Amino acid sequence: MESFEPLSVLIHREVHMHARDAEAELPGNQKVKVSQVSHEFAGRSRSVHALEDVSFSVPQGEFVSILGPSGCGKSTLLHLISGLNIASRGRIFIDEKQVRGTSQDIGMVFQSDLLLDWRNALDNVLIQIEFRGLKKSDYVEPARELLRKTGLELFTDAMPKQLSGGMRQRVGICRALIHDPSLLLMDEPFGALDAITRERMNIDLLKVVEESGKTVVFVTHSIEEAVFLADRVLILSGRPGSLVADIEIPIPRPRLEWPHGESDFSPFAKKARAALGHRDPLS
Ligand SMILES: Nc1ncnc2c1ncn2[C@@H]1O[C@H](COP(=O)(O)OP(=O)(O)OP(=O)(O)O)[C@@H](O)[C@H]1O
Ligand SMILES: [Mg+2]
Repeated sequence: MESFEPLSVLIHREVHMHARDAEAELPGNQKVKVSQVSHEFAGRSRSVHALEDVSFSVPQGEFVSILGPSGCGKSTLLHLISGLNIASRGRIFIDEKQVRGTSQDIGMVFQSDLLLDWRNALDNVLIQIEFRGLKKSDYVEPARELLRKTGLELFTDAMPKQLSGGMRQRVGICRALIHDPSLLLMDEPFGALDAITRERMNIDLLKVVEESGKTVVFVTHSIEEAVFLADRVLILSGRPGSLVADIEIPIPRPRLEWPHGESDFSPFAKKARAALGHRDPLS
């Protein structure tokens, strides 16, 4: 079953994380540090070289978007940061500790929603609490509140098959937020949403992040979304993905309105588009 496998991997890693004593090292005062990371997937007939020598840091409280062509290794990179997979070469640090397995303090929104078909929306959010051995009754009301905030108050009892793709994604977002992690890893979380809902979700996400000081690494295919949300946009090349640009977005927060048409964000979107190798239709 597609949705079951990665969750079982998650539990497996969770158990092993506690058995290991993560080695403390000192990469500086950063929430996330990715240092010379390369990754290859070994296969029987061929291996896939997904990432090549990627290095970057994300200071505490920063919002970083990652853009890159399909198949360049964006999801792979998030899985490596989360500890669900370990890089073939290079090292990753979170809070100055080398990542050797999953951490309690990370919320991950997967590219496919990974909801369990036999649990309703509320129980899919609460599974995060069960995994972490926290007291479920303490989190029922916060879970309802998150579902309400994401427009799902009438669907708390709905089963995944009764939800649209965008609704399922929103349940996945609530599941990543329910334990209040300080680091959020989001893999195209709004990909299945219509434009209006997507803009609203962008603003709502910024409210949560700006109020709470969470650090976010956010993968998207939308240049406009990447630029609007982020303090920095990282651009990966085609596979094997390597870092080709690191664009700062020095636009003050809070950012309360989605920028329609030409705006302060436009020059940065243009820069990102150029780094991705797209020609600007207006120039
Ligand atoms: N578990 C795996 N086993 C083997 N190859 C894999 C695995 N996961 C990813 N790959 C390969 O690694 C490369 C990078 O995949 P990844 O999913 O990270 O790309 P992506 O940038 O997230 O793409 P997209 O934008 O389409 O989501 C692809 O060529 C993919 O086929
Ligand atoms: Mg992906």
